[in-house]
Amino acid sequence: MPLVEVSDEGPVRRVRMNRPDKKNALNAAMYEALAAAVAGTKTEPAIRCLLIEGVEGAFCAGNDIEEFRQAAESGEGLGTSVIRFLHALASCERPLVAAVNGLAIGIGTTMLLHCDHVIASREARFVTPFVGLGLVPEAASSLLAPRLMGHRRAFSLLVMGEPLDAAAAMAAGIVNAVVESAEVDQRAHDAAQRIAKLPPEAVLASRRLMRGSPEETIARIDEEADFFRERLQSPEAKAAFAAFFARKKG
Ligand code: COA
Repeated sequence: MPLVEVSDEGPVRRVRMNRPDKKNALNAAMYEALAAAVAGTKTEPAIRCLLIEGVEGAFCAGNDIEEFRQAAESGEGLGTSVIRFLHALASCERPLVAAVNGLAIGIGTTMLLHCDHVIASREARFVTPFVGLGLVPEAASSLLAPRLMGHRRAFSLLVMGEPLDAAAAMAAGIVNAVVESAEVDQRAHDAAQRIAKLPPEAVLASRRLMRGSPEETIARIDEEADFFRERLQSPEAKAAFAAFFARKKG
């Protein structure tokens, strides 16, 4: 079973992160597959909407911390596949719908800021523990989150690492609807199909007007990535990665 499953259902491209044993933590190969699925829509006009899904209980547990640890050792930053995925998200012209059935950690939450419609389960939790890991926010979340929810709520999320439950995420504007876990995928799928039935050129133009040019977002992704590379090498980050992998041994 691939770690990212991509299937086209008529005009809707379904992209499912599928690494349940690691709570859908994203490794480089998964980022590569996600980037290809999203960026590919540029040359595939038949695809009118993308639907991003996880598994029951875990939308995505964030970047694979083992890969963070390796990047810290080797002096690398976020990695080309991560950047490719983030650029693909920011420059995607098709509407993005997400089905969040459980945990959304780190990039599991920040990728939602690029989405146009998000359905969450009652048990969904949104948390971005970047600073606790000695890191900085990514995916242009330092730009998009304050715009969406205001500086203070964004600070609580991105810097203080305070989790949002599904109701709080809805109040913050990250989520459109909160439903039972068993209904999440279907509700998100229905929304994607509804969007896909709208006149596609009008959807594209409206979305572009609402989101503005992707250049600013891409520039912020790159700026954050520079800080991220520095932070990955920091003693704070290295200690946090070691603590994550030592937590079960104690
Ligand atoms: N990177 C690498 N592995 C991860 C991971 C991540 N981001 N998130 C979970 N995993 C792995 C765990 O190491 C564990 O692997 P193992 O079974 O080989 O030991 C497996 O996924 C299950 O996780 P576990 O911690 O046992 O499940 P849990 O239900 O107790 O907790 C989480 C789930 C997601 C809350 C917890 O794993 C966690 O906090 N993960 C880190 C999230 C994070 O900080 N991400 C980075 C954001 S920038």
